[in-house]
Amino acid sequence: MSKTHVRFVCSHCGAFQSKWMGKCPDCGEWNSLSEQVVRDVGEDRHRPLVVRDDDESPLVVPVGDIQPDASSRWPSGLPEFDRVLGGGIVPGSAVLIGGDPGIGKSTLLLQAGQAMAALGHKTLYITSEESLGQVRLRSDRLTAGATEHETLREIGTTASGKSRSRSGSPRKAESPTELLVSAQANLDIISNILSKERPDVVVIDSVQMVYRPDVAAAPGSAAQLRDAAARLIWLAKQMGFALILVGHVTKDGAIAGPKILEHLVDCVIYFEGDRYHAHRLIRGVKNRFGSTDEIGIFEMTSSGLIGVDDPSRMFLATQRQARPGSVVLSACEGTRTLLVEVQALTSQSVFGSAKRKATGVDANRVSMILAVLEKHGDVVLGDQDVFVNIVGGVRVNEPAADLAVALAVHGALTGRSLPESTVVCGELGLGGELRSVSHQRQRMAEAQRIGFRTMIIPSATGRGKTPPTGATRENMNLLTCETLAHAIRHLS
Ligand code: TYD
Ligand code: MG
Repeated sequence: MSKTHVRFVCSHCGAFQSKWMGKCPDCGEWNSLSEQVVRDVGEDRHRPLVVRDDDESPLVVPVGDIQPDASSRWPSGLPEFDRVLGGGIVPGSAVLIGGDPGIGKSTLLLQAGQAMAALGHKTLYITSEESLGQVRLRSDRLTAGATEHETLREIGTTASGKSRSRSGSPRKAESPTELLVSAQANLDIISNILSKERPDVVVIDSVQMVYRPDVAAAPGSAAQLRDAAARLIWLAKQMGFALILVGHVTKDGAIAGPKILEHLVDCVIYFEGDRYHAHRLIRGVKNRFGSTDEIGIFEMTSSGLIGVDDPSRMFLATQRQARPGSVVLSACEGTRTLLVEVQALTSQSVFGSAKRKATGVDANRVSMILAVLEKHGDVVLGDQDVFVNIVGGVRVNEPAADLAVALAVHGALTGRSLPESTVVCGELGLGGELRSVSHQRQRMAEAQRIGFRTMIIPSATGRGKTPPTGATRENMNLLTCETLAHAIRHLS
């Protein structure tokens, strides 16, 4: 007879403990352990499992004999979302979307859901947080204009026209191009709905609120979340529908609940930026079916999220004149190049310990850049508070931003600025040398398209990749620099 025992699981990191503690010893989170009852496997665990190997379904096959999955992708109707997904959503896959409250998760998924339904996929939007009436209100705000897909635009108008012609209580959809909505949080009911409706795409907004009535723990607790997510993902694989889960984030920005949620799904997408800006960024942090370099950029309007075609122009809307402490960076995110403004401010620190604050760039990277500046840039920053910000809530993760940050800080401190319409990119080495960056040509082309005429780039010494200083390429004046000190000379 199998016995049971009790263990405690941390809702923050998913670690197990044998006894309750106020603070999780693994991640340091307070009050995050909750009780879980587990059935012991006992002696059976050591008995070898006998499996039969037959000709029809061999257990092991040479890789060349495997039939590749047709793995078609369904466009979501939002090209920016598709870009992050790697070209569309894969049937049978599970996607987890996280982001701060109010950032636009529900809006994005309702738009994508309506668009996918309009494209002919039976789409079911299950809301566990809002009522049907609230979903309807939101859907009324979203217009077919927010869905940029050309074919969709034609079908979408008819579909949304139909939905608006009637009002009142929910009714059964008559057209396959209409989104189906259900307000349910009980996992057993959701499973029944899924078996009955057999949808192509299922959105669960949010997975934290979904619960199993037979599990005693509260919705959102580690035990509930683990069960709910695992069962939904299993159903997605079994029935072949594409599953999109919305996950809440903690105050630190990680998707709440055990890390296991991120391991279970095929794709994890985070919303970036803050809700006080009009633009929203989505970034893939895990993708089993595509690259994680891509970002999608949207603008939040009164009629929902609209994809931004020309982000460089949007982010540089205000940056036109040369200003100390402001440098334009040509950044590369996946296959897309965008120009962003890096701003820095220095001020005399008052309390003896200088503050360093970075928004949009890695704070550790900024500390390193400041150290290199002190050593090789002939400035003293020890008594200065330094603030670095990328304008518009964009986050730049690549080291190619180093030179722009360094020049912005140096300029802010010395009151010098780069000549007008100059754009910068380059990685900084600890010895003060500049290292060449990837996609130089695309960065240059983007800068030129926006109307920049001068570009400060690292010289690829010895490799003959870039022409010498002052040379022009494609009507761009290239200022190649070997070291940080070299680049600083262009500040005036
Ligand atoms: P929401 O999508 O509910 O965010 P989340 O699900 O991530 O919590 O809401 C996003 C915000 O966007 C909300 O504050 C209202 C605003 N909004 C618009 O500006 N335009 C719109 O068309 C909609 C639907 C929402
Ligand atoms: Mg929401």
